[in-house]
Amino acid sequence: MNDRSVYLETMGCQMNVLDSELVLGQLRARGYTPTDDMHAADLVLVNTCSVRRHAEDKALSRLGSLKLSKKSKPDRVIGVIGCMAERDPDGIFEKVPHVDLVCGPAELYKVPAMVEEVQAGRNRLVALTVNKSRRSTPLERATEHDSVESLDLSRDPRSDGSSIQAYVRVQRGCDKFCTFCVVPFTRGPERSRPPDLIVDEVRMLADRGCKEITLLGQTVNSYVNQDGGRPVNFAELLERVHVVEGIERIRFVTSYPGDFTSDIFDAMRDLPKVCAYLHLPVQSGSNAVLERMRRQHTVERFRELIDQARQTVPGITIATDFIVGFSGETDEEFEESCELVRRSNFKNIFCFKYSERPATVAEKRMPDDVPDAVKRQRNRTLLELQEEVAMANNQTLLGRTVEVLVEGYSKAAIKAQEAEQTRGSEVGWKRSDQLVGRTPGDQIVVFTGKPEDIGRLAQVRLTGATALTLHGELADREARPS
Ligand code: SAH
Ligand code: F3S
Repeated sequence: MNDRSVYLETMGCQMNVLDSELVLGQLRARGYTPTDDMHAADLVLVNTCSVRRHAEDKALSRLGSLKLSKKSKPDRVIGVIGCMAERDPDGIFEKVPHVDLVCGPAELYKVPAMVEEVQAGRNRLVALTVNKSRRSTPLERATEHDSVESLDLSRDPRSDGSSIQAYVRVQRGCDKFCTFCVVPFTRGPERSRPPDLIVDEVRMLADRGCKEITLLGQTVNSYVNQDGGRPVNFAELLERVHVVEGIERIRFVTSYPGDFTSDIFDAMRDLPKVCAYLHLPVQSGSNAVLERMRRQHTVERFRELIDQARQTVPGITIATDFIVGFSGETDEEFEESCELVRRSNFKNIFCFKYSERPATVAEKRMPDDVPDAVKRQRNRTLLELQEEVAMANNQTLLGRTVEVLVEGYSKAAIKAQEAEQTRGSEVGWKRSDQLVGRTPGDQIVVFTGKPEDIGRLAQVRLTGATALTLHGELADREARPS
């Protein structure tokens, strides 16, 4: 066994969070101990995101800061994993020459072996897959399947302790090729995992105390897998996962409007563990922009979908993504996004300034012609609008009792505790038992509770609200949510 330490920093989406957890599990099994101290670690891995340029710049500056300490600690191994590794391995070695290995998202099961090779004296190791598999034959792909699965199959129930929430991959890659998006180039073709493997994984997580699982895919509702020659679609997958005992909540992200079918809404209505929450990125409120983005929906279709969701699934909350300042976006087109926000009562929106990404259709054919100052202003305008919408909506919730899965202490409580500790006081903790959790609709609720409430479902009566957070107090434990 070795007694080496590993520092792993994760940037980007939930898929990366899951990948990091699995890589860390594999390294733990080989005797590595995780550490928070990047500069002392024997192995440093940065799990990168390529969706926007800013995320790549951040990764490079992180890696750059290791240059000096690599000199003082020459046997340290430094690796870049994830989307940026896949997208631009040569650029990484050029900009941060002290990197020893780069490994794309579909090859992560190779990381422990790659680290050993570096320790044995090899350097600049590269494991990539996407470009290879986009060209490979069906037979080659079939054999690849086993090795690709091995990362998820390596999930070790003993290795990362018990957690009340977990991500489970149901689908890899994306075939949509929205013109702005780099994901199909970094994560490769869309493939759905076999339903049996998914259900087995969920069962294993439930056995170790997990209460809430989030099924992950880039276009998760497009899930379809041939199980013994019969297609299993996403609605059926939800049913199969639903029977796992111990799991109390099932979420899924991210949905693709163009592929949404009504059987999924029916499943959400009929299966009580499936949370009434939808993350359905629209990207723009203008049909002309949606066409340039090559999204396969119109604004009208999107509005129909969310209307249908609200009619079928009681109390459903909907979150969405917008990109502002996409190629050619006029003031009028942006105003259409504002109008969509005003009319749609989203729970929240994720709003991004368009960032041109190499190799995408937009990069090749459409100028990045909206000035950054305009992008920034539009970003602010849309977020302010949404804040008003959310604030008004949250006010209507006051007085209701909601079910909250208690995740832990709120950030404010953690800060208060740290402050108490630095002052040497021992009494602070009890005074600041501010807990935080989420409703089935993914709304954040802060309330005063007891440490033993963490990991449980609590009934909380709502007493206050801001645009992003609800506040409340523990209701009678027998009370039912309204
Ligand atoms: N379906 C994926 C989308 C991945 S990217 C998912 O699982 O969420 C997440 C979000 O980033 C997108 O919905 C989009 O709003 C934003 N995004 C993607 N490419 C972008 C780009 N080039 N510039 C700015 N934002 C981008
Ligand atoms: Fe990206 Fe569009 Fe797929 S946003 S992840 S190409 S659905």
